[in-house]
Amino acid sequence: MQKVAPPRTYRVKSFGCQMNVYDGERMAELLGEQGIAPAPEGEEADLVVLNTCHIREKAAEKVYSDIGRLRREDGTSPLIAVAGCVAQAEGEEIMARAPAVRMVVGPQAYHRLPGMIADAVEGRRVTDTDMPAETKFDALPARRRVGPSAFLTVQEGCDKFCTYCVVPYTRGAEVSRPFAALVEEAARLVDAGAREITLLGQNVNAWQGEDARGRAIGLEGLVRALAALPDLARIRYTTSHPADMSEALIAAHGEIGKLMPFLHLPVQSGNDRVLKAMNRSHTAESYLAILDRVRAARPDIALSGDFIVGFPGESEAEFEDTLGLVEAVGYAQCFSFKYSPRPGTPAATMADQIAPEVMDDRLQRLQAALNRDQLAFNEASLGRTCEVLVERKGRHPGQWLGKSPWLQSVHFEGEAQVGEIVTVQLASAGPNSLRGIRKVPAEA
Ligand code: SAH
Ligand code: SF4
Ligand code: F3S
Repeated sequence: MQKVAPPRTYRVKSFGCQMNVYDGERMAELLGEQGIAPAPEGEEADLVVLNTCHIREKAAEKVYSDIGRLRREDGTSPLIAVAGCVAQAEGEEIMARAPAVRMVVGPQAYHRLPGMIADAVEGRRVTDTDMPAETKFDALPARRRVGPSAFLTVQEGCDKFCTYCVVPYTRGAEVSRPFAALVEEAARLVDAGAREITLLGQNVNAWQGEDARGRAIGLEGLVRALAALPDLARIRYTTSHPADMSEALIAAHGEIGKLMPFLHLPVQSGNDRVLKAMNRSHTAESYLAILDRVRAARPDIALSGDFIVGFPGESEAEFEDTLGLVEAVGYAQCFSFKYSPRPGTPAATMADQIAPEVMDDRLQRLQAALNRDQLAFNEASLGRTCEVLVERKGRHPGQWLGKSPWLQSVHFEGEAQVGEIVTVQLASAGPNSLRGIRKVPAEA
C-alpha cells in the first residue's frame, strides 16, 4: 500500500452499545493526545475509525457500506481503521474484502492504535485483535472534558454464553476493573464535568473487587464508594444479568439515594423452554421474583428489559408467554429485537429457524404492548414535579433537554444551565418524552 502523510484530523463513528460509545470516546481522546484533531463537521477526516457492533446482522453490513462511502472520486480513501466487535469477530474477512481498510483493531487492543497508525502511514496493513493481559485502561490518557452524564466501564466481557449471542466471543471473558482505578477514574470524570455516571459492563452486576481495606465487595460496594464523591449527583449501571442480581445490590436500591430508581434487566423471553434453549440461567418466574424484591426495596423503580422474538423453535404459544410477562411487569421502557442468527453461535444452526414474516408480526405485537406500557408509565408522572439533570439545549430558544431519575427524556422551558439539576413541573407526556416548565426555587 502507498505511504501517506500522518493524519492531522480524525473522526470516530460508533455503531454499538453504550460500551462501544465509551470505547469510541476513549479512542478519540487517545488520538487527541497524539496531536490529531477532530475533523470539523462536514469535512473529510484524514483518519476514520469505524467503531463497529456485531450483535445483529445489519450492524455488520453497515460497516461495508460505510467503507464504500468513504471512497473518494479518484479511488483513494482516508486512512480507515475498523474497530469494535466486528473487527474482533471478522478481522481477517474485513482485510480480505475491503482493501481500503488499513487497520483492524479489536475492543481489547485499541490502546495500541498510535503504533498501528505509524505502521499504516508507512503503507502497512495491520490487524490487532489480541486480548492482552495488560489492560488498555492503564494505557489510555486521563479524561479531561466530559458532558454532565458520563460512562465508566467497570466490567467487560461475558461468561454466560447465551446461545444466540456473539459478545462472549468478541469481548472475551468477564473481567472486573480494580476498585481503586475506578474510584480514581470516577473522581476525574466528576472533575471533568460529570454529574451523573453510568457504570457499564456486559454483565455489570457481575463486577467484583476489593475495597480500600481489602474486603471483597460487589457492585453495591462500588456504587456506595462512588456515592461518597460530593459533586457526583447520580449513579446508574447497565447492563445487568438476572443471575448476578445479588441481595446486596437489590438492597442498595433502597439505601443509596444517589443510585437512580431505574433497572435495566434483560429477560429475552417469557417462556421457560425458550429461555432454556437460549441458555439463560433464569426462568420467567425467577426473573419476576427478582423484580418483586427490587420493587420491595425501591417501590418507585422504573424497569427496563431486552427481548428477542423468533428465537429458533419459538411457537406462537411460547411467544404469547412473552406478551404475558410484559403484561405482568409493566415496563417503563424496553428494547426488542428480531432474532438474528450470528455465525459461530449455537443457535445459528438450530432447527426450526423462524420465518421473517412471523418474526415481523411478533415484533410488531410485542412493540405495541411495550409502547403502550411506556406511554402509561410516562403519563403516570403527569401533574407531578421531578428533578431533571440538564444535558443540553433543546431545539427552540429557552428550551432544554434532560433526564428524570427514571431515565425519561424531559423537555422543559425556563432558565437553566447544562449540568444543573432543576425541578420541572410535568405538563404533557408522549411515548418517548415528557414536557414541562421549570419551577423557580421560590415556588418549588
Ligand atoms: N449483556 C447484556 C446485553 C447484550 S446485547 C445482557 O445479557 O442482557 C443486548 C441485547 O441484544 C441482548 O439483551 C439481546 O436482547 C439482543 N441480542 C443479542 N444477540 C442477539 C441476536 N443474535 N439476535 C437478536 N438480538 C440479540
Ligand atoms: Fe450476550 Fe447473554 Fe452475555 Fe448478555 S449475558 S452478553 S446476551 S451472552
Ligand atoms: Fe455490539 Fe459489541 Fe456492544 S457486539 S452491542 S458493540 S459489546
